[in-house]
Amino acid sequence: MSATGTWDQDTFAAAVGEAVWAPSIHNSQPWRFRRCAHGIDVLVDRSRALPVTDPDGRAARVSCGAAVCNLMLALAVAGAPAVATVGHGGAAVRLTPAGGRPATPRERRLHRQIRRRHTNRSPFAETRVDAGVVAQLAETAAREGGWLDFVEDEPGRAALAALTRQADAQLRADPGYAAELRTWTAAADLDVEGVGRQAAGAAPHPAELMPRRDFGGPERDATRDPTHEPVVAVFGVHGDHAADEVRAGMVLQQLLLLAADLGLAVAMYSQPIEVPEVREQLRLVVHRLHAPQLVLRFGYAPTTCYTNRRPVADVIDPEGRG
Ligand SMILES: Cc1cc2nc3c(=O)[nH]c(=O)nc-3n(C[C@H](O)[C@H](O)[C@H](O)COP(=O)(O)O)c2cc1C
Repeated sequence: MSATGTWDQDTFAAAVGEAVWAPSIHNSQPWRFRRCAHGIDVLVDRSRALPVTDPDGRAARVSCGAAVCNLMLALAVAGAPAVATVGHGGAAVRLTPAGGRPATPRERRLHRQIRRRHTNRSPFAETRVDAGVVAQLAETAAREGGWLDFVEDEPGRAALAALTRQADAQLRADPGYAAELRTWTAAADLDVEGVGRQAAGAAPHPAELMPRRDFGGPERDATRDPTHEPVVAVFGVHGDHAADEVRAGMVLQQLLLLAADLGLAVAMYSQPIEVPEVREQLRLVVHRLHAPQLVLRFGYAPTTCYTNRRPVADVIDPEGRG
């Protein structure tokens, strides 16, 4: 802690070093971190928004929320936990000190997964996900202020897959969408942003049940549909304003870290969220009041490739008054 009772520069920079391992749309890392008199502000970096895929910045806010979750876990494990105020002034989130206390066992467990978690676009094993594991994920979402609806009946799964396919086809028909995707995939393997070909997995096959986004992975002969197994879920929170989207990211990251801790692989699909009319139909499939934020597929698969991150110095703003 510094003389003013907030985090000193070293603790701050070390925690930011963990925050950046959060997932973000196309690995765009649309965040900035600033130490201020009251604590830490996390800001959405609008210069890194995706104008075609994410015109109103929703996915960027979800991504920032995920980074906030990591930041809070890192600070808690450093013995200097934070409370978060979402939507404070110009910041997406302001963190203020919550007094010293040791990290809880749960915080330690989740924190350990920050660098192990990754998006897995490879085929998942046919191994069933135990009902107890499914329940644990859904309960965690509820406890953290969100919802995670597993779609387990065949008609529901077929409807979800059809909506994802419809959205994917609609997005791909827009040359601007394809161009934006190329910008965030081209030559990303050695880069510090975007989705590299290794992390992309094999190119999506037209017959896939749940069409993966095409990040330029190599063509491969598929012997079976890599997206069929085993469980899919629709995720959201109880609201769909900008602050809710940041909160959604915070809950999402808790779920992803818990999934990693439980040995699960996770794939993400946001195509049905990115087409407004499809998003509305998806909401009706899960009978929710508020619009969903993401579709997730959980299963078991070997670790695939990690994406890179920009250096911490590139995401820290000069100190502000706050
Ligand atoms: C809001 C949001 C939407 C995403 N949508 C997709 C998606 O549609 N398809 C996909 O393969 N990955 C998706 N991702 C995963 C990102 O591509 C991934 O987090 C990023 O490339 C960083 O890689 P990592 O998660 O392995 O660290 C999404 C992530 C976020 C936060």
